[in-house]
Amino acid sequence: MLKSLHGGRSVLALVMLCTASLVAAQQGDDEGIASAGTNWFLKGGDFKGQHYSPLAQVNAANVGRLGLAWAADLPIPDGVATTPIVIDGVVYLSGAYSIVLAVDAKSGNILWSYDPEVREAIAERPILSWLARANRGVAVWDGKVFLTTADCRLIALDAAKGTRLWSRQTCDNALGYFITDSPYVGGGKVFVGNGGSESQLKGRGYVSAYEAGDGDLLWRFYIVPSDKPEENDTLALKMAAKTWSGDALAKYGGGGHNWNEMTYDPASNRLFFGTSGAYPYRHAERSPLGGENLFLSSIVAVDADTGEYQWHYQTVDKDSWDYNATMNIVLADLMIRDEERETLLIAPKNGFHYTLDRHTGELLAVGKFAKTNWATDIALETGKPVYDPAGEYWNLPEGEKAFIWPNMWGSHGWNPMAFHPGHKLSYIPVVDAPALMSSDGGGEDIVVVTEVDGKPHAPGKLVAMDPVNGRIRWSVDRDLPFNGGLLTTAGDLLFQGTASGRFEAFAADTGERLWSVQTGSAINAAPASYSIGGVQYVLIPIGAGGGLQFQYPQMHSTEASKGPTQLLAFTLGGEAQLAASPAADSPLPDQPKLDVSPDVVALGAAAYNEACKFCHGSNAVARFGGSVPDLRYADAATHAQWDAIVIGGSRRASGMPGMELTTDQSAAIRSYVLSLSEEIRRQQ
Ligand code: HEC
Repeated sequence: MLKSLHGGRSVLALVMLCTASLVAAQQGDDEGIASAGTNWFLKGGDFKGQHYSPLAQVNAANVGRLGLAWAADLPIPDGVATTPIVIDGVVYLSGAYSIVLAVDAKSGNILWSYDPEVREAIAERPILSWLARANRGVAVWDGKVFLTTADCRLIALDAAKGTRLWSRQTCDNALGYFITDSPYVGGGKVFVGNGGSESQLKGRGYVSAYEAGDGDLLWRFYIVPSDKPEENDTLALKMAAKTWSGDALAKYGGGGHNWNEMTYDPASNRLFFGTSGAYPYRHAERSPLGGENLFLSSIVAVDADTGEYQWHYQTVDKDSWDYNATMNIVLADLMIRDEERETLLIAPKNGFHYTLDRHTGELLAVGKFAKTNWATDIALETGKPVYDPAGEYWNLPEGEKAFIWPNMWGSHGWNPMAFHPGHKLSYIPVVDAPALMSSDGGGEDIVVVTEVDGKPHAPGKLVAMDPVNGRIRWSVDRDLPFNGGLLTTAGDLLFQGTASGRFEAFAADTGERLWSVQTGSAINAAPASYSIGGVQYVLIPIGAGGGLQFQYPQMHSTEASKGPTQLLAFTLGGEAQLAASPAADSPLPDQPKLDVSPDVVALGAAAYNEACKFCHGSNAVARFGGSVPDLRYADAATHAQWDAIVIGGSRRASGMPGMELTTDQSAAIRSYVLSLSEEIRRQQ
């Protein structure tokens, strides 16, 4: 099975959504009170996490006049996966290797950059080469920028200068932990999770809270119990311990990580976060005598001051598919069955959109937004899945494979969904693609299927969902599965960037496409919106980011995967020029001739997929111009040093580990790579 080592106005009609004092509270001072929508102060926009802007200068009537105001070239080789933060005219964001940039929001000039030097740690642990490039952003609070690193550091910078104030080690790589997500802020605290649930080391997920000012550790919440009963010293851990059987806790630590997205609610002073599954993936193997394995694949609410457990809702109680519930959490007020309810919305990997009471975790509504065959439904009365035998890959006869919908990277990943408080609609960037699995859990992680039951099937979709009745309102088909996160606005617009490099706006109520430009680079990040001097800006980082692109770069169009990493700002009447799209084909350098049998090439392909794919990409396609070279384009000099690089580890310090291979295996992989170069040569 996959190893998802993953492992958010002069003419302006300003809608005052949240009060000015809330913004001031976020910033931790009473001065500099900003109008709603001027800043984009959390990845989700504000504390509701709706990815909604109350600005309406750019709207459904005039979006045709939206044009580029400025483009900033970002010194980040591997694209950007995060939603930028904008506070008082400065954009803060980060990308590969946790490199942080502050950019002037009016001009696009880079003000400062900070490099936490993760590459030193990569030389020790090559797996971090991959994880460090999947970085998903920063948080800002009271004059400080907070970032995390793949080697488990939480760092505070001076937001004005980009200088380091303090650094805390918040987890340990040696135990299988790492961090790809940003920290989160609220109520004077910084919250940070970690990843590693797929690790076969001793990882046991937890969330930590630090004091934002001086970085003191305030509390730590463990997501799964310890195998040592004396360490389960809270009511929550005692309750969770009763739901495990077998030796997974002792052997593997239990997993259950929060590797993505938390939401802090100032009104209730609660922190909400989602959790992952655990290794081993199969429930029967992990917990042979049954048990729900709390708090895997759950949404958990804790007191933000103490970390004390308040409630949980488990999305998959017998998770055998790695259906993480760590997707972005939205707070929304909805009328459900004639009652005003304060709800929490989430669309986890498993293909269902959930509407929960945010004070109790009660399931209020649920609906399917992608094809699923692991469960037919979620029962409203019990809140539990109605399992579908079609998803039980472990019962397949020897040698047979079956499509499991959705695949284990999920029908919704870390790319944030959005919610429009006026139209009361959730919008989800959907990946509608299965895995092809055999009974041992092996197979193809992601298969792009374009026909189901004789009917055309879009592998990617943009879906608008009614969170009150769980029904799809409208849906837009996408040719490629992995598209960017979302922004919706009071101007009745919904923005999304695509895997083929388009940046588009839709009517939020009907899904009609109103505006579209080709940016030249694949987009995974989500847009943000802010205003300066009465002008509304729509901001989008371009250049494919996030961990998946390193394994499946062909999930982006060939041209767009070669585009530069940039930050683009659009305004009405903006007249700057977008860069031209790069050409699809690059010329090959001189390379040695391939003279081995197809059998050797096949052996090489298998060895490549085992040892090289997760960094160099499937079929050896890597993001062009990124920090991992496309092996199909390796020149004669590189081929001459092949074994020194691949076995000897001569490029270890820049993230290319020395691999444990025989010279025969290494030669077979080289032949396989050359056969792929031959294919390009034939096409050219
Ligand atoms: C953990 C990630 C990772 C894994 C696994 C990995 N590589 Fe690499 N590889 C890299 C990086 C990063 C570079 C670029 C190093 C540099 O900039 O000098 C690289 C560079 C190379 C180069 C030099 C290419 C050139 O044009 O300069 C070769 C050849 C190579 N890798 C082959 C392999 C093979 C074969 C495997 C599997 C047996 C493999 N790599 C596994 C990350 C990885």
